[in-house]
Amino acid sequence: MTLTYGVPSRCDIPTVVTSRLILRGWRPEDLSPYAAMNADPETMRYLDGPFGVDATERLVTHLIGMWALRGHGMWAVEERGSGEFLGRAGSYIAQGWPGIEVAVSIRRDHWGMGLGTEAIRASLDFGFERLPVDEMITSTHRENVGMNSIAHRLGMTFRGVADVGPWRASNVYAITRSEWCARQTAASAASAEAALQHVRQSGPSSDECAPGGCAPVERRHGEQMSRKRTPGR
Ligand SMILES: CC(C)(COP(=O)(O)OP(=O)(O)OC[C@H]1O[C@@H](n2cnc3c(N)ncnc32)[C@H](O)[C@@H]1OP(=O)(O)O)[C@@H](O)C(=O)NCCC(=O)NCCS
Repeated sequence: MTLTYGVPSRCDIPTVVTSRLILRGWRPEDLSPYAAMNADPETMRYLDGPFGVDATERLVTHLIGMWALRGHGMWAVEERGSGEFLGRAGSYIAQGWPGIEVAVSIRRDHWGMGLGTEAIRASLDFGFERLPVDEMITSTHRENVGMNSIAHRLGMTFRGVADVGPWRASNVYAITRSEWCARQTAASAASAEAALQHVRQSGPSSDECAPGGCAPVERRHGEQMSRKRTPGR
């Protein structure tokens, strides 16, 4: 029998770079640090308890498979400065889910530094920029203070208590595309105003001057407001 080969199907996982994190595709060397996180009872307190290396490997192949099947999913989270593995973040959906969920798990020695918020913010940015969705959700155990705080801090609205997949009576939050875009526009306007105040108070710094003169402040702010987070950058 003669076999013919077609074009192989591909699973491209885009890379997203934030201030302190790189959200990227999974590598074999992530398995060991991720398994260590999944074996930690405190980290897994609201995620059905700890599990081992074999289950971690099955989970990672499942998370990679979501990118191939649905075009979005969970990234491995890497710290920009050190290159260390810090967890996983991104989006998730399965049968019976009320919508595309954003979720995160951060290595315990890095909790409380704003990294969970940063990863969820990037996941919402990516979702609303790249996916044809009008709303994204998150769900968590009612006692998971960290995740409930992240949802509130990012302007997600409490929608009620529901069973989500295997998790019973989870707090469910949602944010619509228009709500997220309004927040981003307000944040950009606030940072543009802060930059303008800085220029007014201290005058333009040397690196704000192009050869032959300074670009108009309004134009520089316009560029800043329309700047997109470019995957792979
Ligand atoms: C939930 C989790 C992602 C938070 O990550 P993080 O990087 O610590 O989050 P941030 O630093 O952005 O802080 C978010 C909020 O959680 C609070 N927080 C962080 N760690 C906390 C802790 N151990 N106990 C209580 N609150 C905590 C912060 O004070 C902050 O609250 P604020 O907005 O009122 O200031 C992290 O604890 C984690 O990975 N937990 C295990 C996995 C998990 O439960 N994921 C969520 C599944 S739905």
